[in-house]
Amino acid sequence: MRELRLCNKEIGKIGFGTWGIGGGYWQKDYSRDKESIEILRYAYDKGIRLFDTAEMYGDGHSEELVGRALNKYEDVLIVSKVWSNHLRHDDLIKSAINSRKRLGVKSIDLYLIHWPNSRIPIEESINAMEELIDSGVIRCMGVSNFDVELLDKAIHSAKKYEVVANEIEYNIYNKKSEKDIIPFAKKNKIEIIAYSPLAKGEIAYDKTLKKIGEKYNKTSIQIALNYLMKNSIPIPKAFSKEHIDEIIGSIDFELKEEDYEIIKNM
Ligand SMILES: NC(=O)c1ccc[n+]([C@@H]2O[C@H](COP(=O)([O-])OP(=O)(O)OC[C@H]3O[C@@H](n4cnc5c(N)ncnc54)[C@H](OP(=O)(O)O)[C@@H]3O)[C@@H](O)[C@H]2O)c1
Repeated sequence: MRELRLCNKEIGKIGFGTWGIGGGYWQKDYSRDKESIEILRYAYDKGIRLFDTAEMYGDGHSEELVGRALNKYEDVLIVSKVWSNHLRHDDLIKSAINSRKRLGVKSIDLYLIHWPNSRIPIEESINAMEELIDSGVIRCMGVSNFDVELLDKAIHSAKKYEVVANEIEYNIYNKKSEKDIIPFAKKNKIEIIAYSPLAKGEIAYDKTLKKIGEKYNKTSIQIALNYLMKNSIPIPKAFSKEHIDEIIGSIDFELKEEDYEIIKNM
């Protein structure tokens, strides 16, 4: 099983998502701050090192909570994302500076273009990203929701630094990226960060995975995450210690080839 390094930090095999923590779509929610910080620190204490957030999540409040919970830890890798209406050069620079402030860090470890925007040339956004690396606002850059064509464009737009990651939806019910994006990313040494790896929790009820799990004494969730680890770093989101414990239990085993193939062909 792969042990991953990204942006010069060790990240283990699994990360953590924060959608819904601190609010929703451009909307802040302060009502569960204490619990949220506790949950994020619990995930860290259990060994998770990569945390994914975005300026859009809770209108920046998710970043504030991630920062408050985790910015004192040197070995954490924080990923944040710029929204698709902020991809013009000056807007992107401004967004990154604001995100860095909310996170309370010296540099954002990994900064991603959240979604492409067909009205703004990729070169312009990548150029701004490279300036942000030069000025130390971010340490490395990547993209999210980019298909092969766009990813190729992003790679070719970069003049000084590499595009290190593409964050995409990847779970056992959505494996279409295995045919194109994943092989392309591998060839170009780009890490795949798998979002919605639990299909929003639906996977907990999967009967095929449950049956496979019986052989390993593992749950459907643990089997599904372990499957994704072969090609990606999954970033499940959870809001309970029990869920985090279950997620952590996906790391310490390896699926046999025959079971991997069953899931691959599901
Ligand atoms: N780049 C993008 O465009 C993009 C898009 C979507 C998501 N993301 C990122 O990816 C992260 C993960 O994706 P997601 O939040 O969409 O969905 P997900 O991780 O597939 O699923 C989250 C859901 O699964 C539940 N869950 C967690 N652990 C569980 C367990 N052990 N048993 C049963 N249910 C469990 C959670 O419940 P509780 O919360 O109650 O624990 C939550 O409802 C996001 O948080 C975000 O950081 C990125």
